[in-house]
Amino acid sequence: MPSCLDRAAHSALRAEFPLLEQCVYLNNNSTGAVPRGAERVLRGYWETLRTWRDDVWQDWHVGLDRYADGLAALLGAPPGSVVTDANLSTLLARVASCFDYRPPRDRVVVTDLEYPTVPFVFRAFGRYGARLTVAGTGGPRLDQDALEEQIDERTLLVCVPHASFTSGATVDLPRLVARAHQVGALVVVDAFQTVGVVPLDVTTLGVDVVLGGAHKWLCGVGTAFLYVRPDLVPQLEPAATGWQAGDRALTFQPSTGWAPGARRFAGGTPYPLTSLVSQVALDLLAEVGGAAIRRHSLALTQRLLDRADAAGITVVSPREAHRRGGVVCLDVPDGETVKRRLAARNLICSWRGYLRVGPHVYNSLDEIDEFMDALNKELGR
Ligand SMILES: Cc1ncc(COP(=O)(O)O)c(C=O)c1O
Repeated sequence: MPSCLDRAAHSALRAEFPLLEQCVYLNNNSTGAVPRGAERVLRGYWETLRTWRDDVWQDWHVGLDRYADGLAALLGAPPGSVVTDANLSTLLARVASCFDYRPPRDRVVVTDLEYPTVPFVFRAFGRYGARLTVAGTGGPRLDQDALEEQIDERTLLVCVPHASFTSGATVDLPRLVARAHQVGALVVVDAFQTVGVVPLDVTTLGVDVVLGGAHKWLCGVGTAFLYVRPDLVPQLEPAATGWQAGDRALTFQPSTGWAPGARRFAGGTPYPLTSLVSQVALDLLAEVGGAAIRRHSLALTQRLLDRADAAGITVVSPREAHRRGGVVCLDVPDGETVKRRLAARNLICSWRGYLRVGPHVYNSLDEIDEFMDALNKELGR
């Protein structure tokens, strides 16, 4: 049975994702299911290659811009404020390359719940003076007080995950943005684990930089995105750059200035295929709408919490709806083996220290029950 979404609309949505016919797919925090419309795009791409003409690039740029602007709309941001590239790490390093890290404002504060790429990138910028502070106590919950204590007039950037990839715990962004801006620091949000399942309005929040990617909750493939607050863009000049970021890029003349908007954070020749494929799912998700997706997701994760409690399974993720993302993490003995045994029964989740169960808008309460029945059996409960 679906929850929140109209039954017929939910069935129609499910029918767009062939992977759901093969298994109970609750692994969206790792990799989202890709809709069947991707096949049409891939065939079209081959047709383009087979009949190649030089002006294809013009159409590809339209497709790239359409995807970036679609993401901007999802984030509550204006067109032109988002750029895409191969992965989040590339874009984060490009953002990091915009700063001089001169004392007294040379500090970058991150949490201990970051995806490993975040501290890795900023540690590398230690060569240019960046001083990294990692806030946190090592647990699965984000200690917002401990994080904010680290932020002062020496802080240049505060980089946080909107939701942790290990526990799904979310950061209180309005509070964090207020604290960081009070002392003149910029807030960089890694929203890979939320965009597509948790609404994020970057304009209302006044957040400075947001990064994310397509292959999880956005049900796309192989592309990542960067949003920069439009009024901040003119103040940032990436040292890690490429010709597509220049003001004369599309004339193939040497550029001396920057392209307008977020395109100043572009690199070299872009990757049209991944944006074109990812557009299919973005359109489907936009049709459902962020609020309905969140309502459905909360109903599914609540069912996971209730079933875990009933079985006496330790829940690692926050219980409060406003503090949890799209995933519920469970602390079970020998979790990696349990994950494998469930996968052998076509019940798909992931394990990163905890069992991570991440249903999306196309999953149903029945699937949650089927998964939890099997998990209880595996655990002998
Ligand atoms: C929170 C978070 N950030 C970043 C990434 C990945 O970064 P990249 O695109 O550089 O591989 C992931 C997962 O793949 C993630 O969960």
